[in-house]
Amino acid sequence: MNDAPDSTFTFPGKDKLVAVVDEAVRAGDEHAVTAALRNAMCRMIRDHDVHLPHCVHEPIADHYARRELYRSPTRGYSVVAMTWAPGQGTPVHDHAGLWCVEGVWDGELEIVQYELLERDGDRCRFRAAGGMHAGPGSAGSLIPPHEFHTIRNTSPDAIAISLHIYKAPMDHCTAFQPVGGEWYQRVAKTLCTDEAA
Ligand SMILES: [Fe+2]
Repeated sequence: MNDAPDSTFTFPGKDKLVAVVDEAVRAGDEHAVTAALRNAMCRMIRDHDVHLPHCVHEPIADHYARRELYRSPTRGYSVVAMTWAPGQGTPVHDHAGLWCVEGVWDGELEIVQYELLERDGDRCRFRAAGGMHAGPGSAGSLIPPHEFHTIRNTSPDAIAISLHIYKAPMDHCTAFQPVGGEWYQRVAKTLCTDEAA
């Protein structure tokens, strides 16, 4: 875990990105904030002043890369860039009760939302509630309790980069492993960040 990631990453347009996100998180309740952040995210992806650090373009062989680019000392949010090699993806997972806005910076990602139908102890029954292939410049959001999804780079040969803004640093979540039919087993998961390459 990296407790002081902010000093690690400097990149062109960082101040502009932070100013835009700072403004958006003042929008009001979580619906207003995530809507403002989706708009801000789409603008920033197309903004020629903002260039994410070079290392963000470098995938890591055995897991999708999570690099925390910024953590707001005053507003508490966390900005994480993820790099997805061809075929890399997540299991069904939650977001630890935190809202999140996610945008595709480069490449294309398959995002599938899941609806929780029922719980039985450590098992949950989910149904895929819709999926999309999201390309550069698109952004979506998750607001608990509707916080379950998978993300996958289905391209055979191209990496994908996504930018995630969380209400607060997300260092853990719950993943759900399929055990048959629509049933999944809950598995606690620690989320690590990767250093600058
Ligand atoms: Fe997620």
